[in-house]
Amino acid sequence: MHKKYVLVDCDPGHDDVMAILSALAHPESFEILGITTVCGNNLLPLITQNMLNVLSYIHHEEIPVCMGADKPLVFKPSPQPAHGYNGLEGFEFPQHHLKPVSSDYLSFMRDKILSSPNKVTIMALAPLTNIASLLTHHPEVKDNIEEIVLMGGSWYRGNVLPHAEFNIYADPHAADIVFTSKVKTTIIPLECCDDCTIDEETVQMWNQDNRYLTKMVAGLMDFFAIYGRQHQRTRHTIFDLAVTLYLLQPDKFEGEYCDTKVVLSGQETRGQTIFTQNINSHVYVLKHADTKWFEQQMIDDINHLANIIN
Ligand code: RIB
Ligand code: CA
Repeated sequence: MHKKYVLVDCDPGHDDVMAILSALAHPESFEILGITTVCGNNLLPLITQNMLNVLSYIHHEEIPVCMGADKPLVFKPSPQPAHGYNGLEGFEFPQHHLKPVSSDYLSFMRDKILSSPNKVTIMALAPLTNIASLLTHHPEVKDNIEEIVLMGGSWYRGNVLPHAEFNIYADPHAADIVFTSKVKTTIIPLECCDDCTIDEETVQMWNQDNRYLTKMVAGLMDFFAIYGRQHQRTRHTIFDLAVTLYLLQPDKFEGEYCDTKVVLSGQETRGQTIFTQNINSHVYVLKHADTKWFEQQMIDDINHLANIIN
């Protein structure tokens, strides 16, 4: 794999953090140009603070964090209880002085993309508000985007409504803009994420591991697993990590090219995605991942980072 120059757009979020950790475990494959936060699993100030807390804790203060949109394009914010009272419950981060950069997010994203020596891959781990606004206000960036890889949508089911996944439900208008932008896009929907899981035993293994980095990972994953345990699951889905691991090794995933539609409104239907196979489409929608490989890669990445971050 050639090295990817990436912008991470996220709402951390437990699984967003795991996605960023895995990218940091592979500096030969990922150059993180910057991180933008967006209103999603919780409100923007909390989400941004979570991102800064993590970067400070793992000593990656050099990665610039820029605050993005504080609300979806049309709808009101819709915080998610699965991530706890502050959007990243489970670990008490020490105090620090890290701050977001002062530029506005559209200029930040545009400048990062246009000044990158290579085309930029956008890792989209949250509602697509920032990315949709960027494509609308600065369409000149499209030629320097290699691909948008996003976690969102579903083939046939949902996690906030019977047929809608959270990242698309939270801002369907933004998703519609991104899907129709003609920028090469890979979508990782819920059903593919069903294969992107870790075992309860892995969570317990991290709980027993007292290394500096693993304490954070264990705290966050132990909290994130509560939802699954309440539903008698022994495997836990780490949705957003699928974006990093797909970019790392796409041959461990299967999908097909599809036309995409987003339902913009309706009490039962808001945020529903409709994928129809079309080999000429610019959108690739994943269906399956290699679960065994996914879990082992995650374990290896955390183990590697735990040996070098302390
Ligand atoms: O539906 C899963 C998505 O919503 C993920 O991005 C996760 O972080 C959650 O907030
Ligand atoms: Ca997320």
